[in-house]
Amino acid sequence: TPHIVIAIDGPAGAGKSTIGKLLAARLGALYIDTGAMYRTVALKGFRLGVIRPDHPPEPLIPEQEAQLTQIAQATEITLAGDPFHLQVFADREDVSSDIRLPEVSRYASIVSAVAGVRSALVAQQRRMGAEGTVVMDGRDIGTHVFPDADVKFFLDASVETRTERRYNEQRARGIECTREQTRLDVLERDRRDYNRAVSPLRRADDAIWLDTSTLSPEQVLEKMLSLIHHRL
Ligand code: C5P
Repeated sequence: TPHIVIAIDGPAGAGKSTIGKLLAARLGALYIDTGAMYRTVALKGFRLGVIRPDHPPEPLIPEQEAQLTQIAQATEITLAGDPFHLQVFADREDVSSDIRLPEVSRYASIVSAVAGVRSALVAQQRRMGAEGTVVMDGRDIGTHVFPDADVKFFLDASVETRTERRYNEQRARGIECTREQTRLDVLERDRRDYNRAVSPLRRADDAIWLDTSTLSPEQVLEKMLSLIHHRL
């Protein structure tokens, strides 16, 4: 069977996971949410007291970086279920809902700047991607994890659209938040993801750039399917 890798990168709220799931379902591919892996390390770091909410979380000191790297290396992260009922396990504990909390989003973007954390998770992602046809969603999939991916997409949208999507998503999960707080979180995460030293978020030269601001998920999906068929 052909083994195809489709990379989807872009900032928070650009539609990567919504579209990635639809695309995986249509292609009969495995959907791999790499953000969930960084979130899991952040959640564990928070629970173990490596990241402390009562301190300014940045900059991390070398000892924290070493502890977070150790967590990334030692935690068995499992992504299970079909694309629409994705479950995330950390050493067999179901962390699917805890990793979506807004503070975990923020910590994930801090933790993901640690080189040791990235190399541990990237190694795992490469193993997952070797298992079959995959749709992998993240920030550095087309640039670093799978630079030879068969098709690469870079999804983007305006800050307003991305804020609105994140806000609705959080409200639907029962998370208390305001639009303004959500907008600040999105901007803060953009700043970290675009500016970190290791594998910053950027479009790979050969990635197809799509602005999803004014498109429905179905419209984005149709565009991507036709581009994929054209390329393969
Ligand atoms: O995609 P999601 O919002 O779940 O990702 C959470 C955070 O994890 C991002 O803000 C980013 O800092 C980090 N991340 C990353 N590289 C990836 C996926 C996520 O640095 N491939």
